[in-house]
Amino acid sequence: MRKNIVAGNWKMNKTLGEGVDLIEELNEQLNGTQVKCEVIIAPPFYLLPTATQLTEGGVIKVSAQNCADKESGAYTGEVSAAMLKSAGVSHVIIGHSERRAYYGETDETVKTKVELALKEGLTPIVCIGEKLEERESGKAFDVVKGQIENGLFGLSAEDFGKVVLAYEPVWAIGTGKTATKEQAEEIHKFVRDTVAAKYGTQVAEDLTILYGGSCKPSNAKELFSMPNVDGGLIGGASLKSEDFMGIIKAFE
Ligand code: 13P
Repeated sequence: MRKNIVAGNWKMNKTLGEGVDLIEELNEQLNGTQVKCEVIIAPPFYLLPTATQLTEGGVIKVSAQNCADKESGAYTGEVSAAMLKSAGVSHVIIGHSERRAYYGETDETVKTKVELALKEGLTPIVCIGEKLEERESGKAFDVVKGQIENGLFGLSAEDFGKVVLAYEPVWAIGTGKTATKEQAEEIHKFVRDTVAAKYGTQVAEDLTILYGGSCKPSNAKELFSMPNVDGGLIGGASLKSEDFMGIIKAFE
């Protein structure tokens, strides 16, 4: 069954006190209510054990923003999928465009990280998306297809079925420039068709594909109304409880 998800990627924001305050505000508004989508927050690594403790038994699930491409050992500064699992984390964002642009991540590292995450029973939220020049030169479809094929098509159908995808056009991230609902739908449908051609229609139909890039309360509803847009991966608008709640409520 395809799930609707609203996930907040906090990126490198929130000190300990600020993070705890935001989680408590969200808990207050979400726990004990009927929420029409899965709600996930992805705080920075250092906040994860605190976040899983504060959200235990409630609505919110906790994701990491990244994991290591190695299992364990002498890799200073890295955090493994097994460590995330031990902290009570359920999801991990993999291959965000900021990781690709600033930290040299490739489809190859995405592939390795996805395998390690799945081995620990974590749900990978795998990010794909084209840069502005790629869109302008008509390469958007080829770029996302390549990212999916190289990063994910080595998986068995069963494992692929455990993955969530997030289409985040790089030109829309943090720019205030949102993809139109038609632009998002066009790529999401193409992604689902590409997955169907490889794994069959059932796997494709069950796949959750999130949109990310300047998604906010004012545009979430129209984006999520598209047949192939199953929710959002939210950056800036996940940092304030009223904005994030406004996006979650787009599913009501
Ligand atoms: P913004 O919502 O700030 O554009 O960020 C989107 C994003 O990168 C989520 O992962």
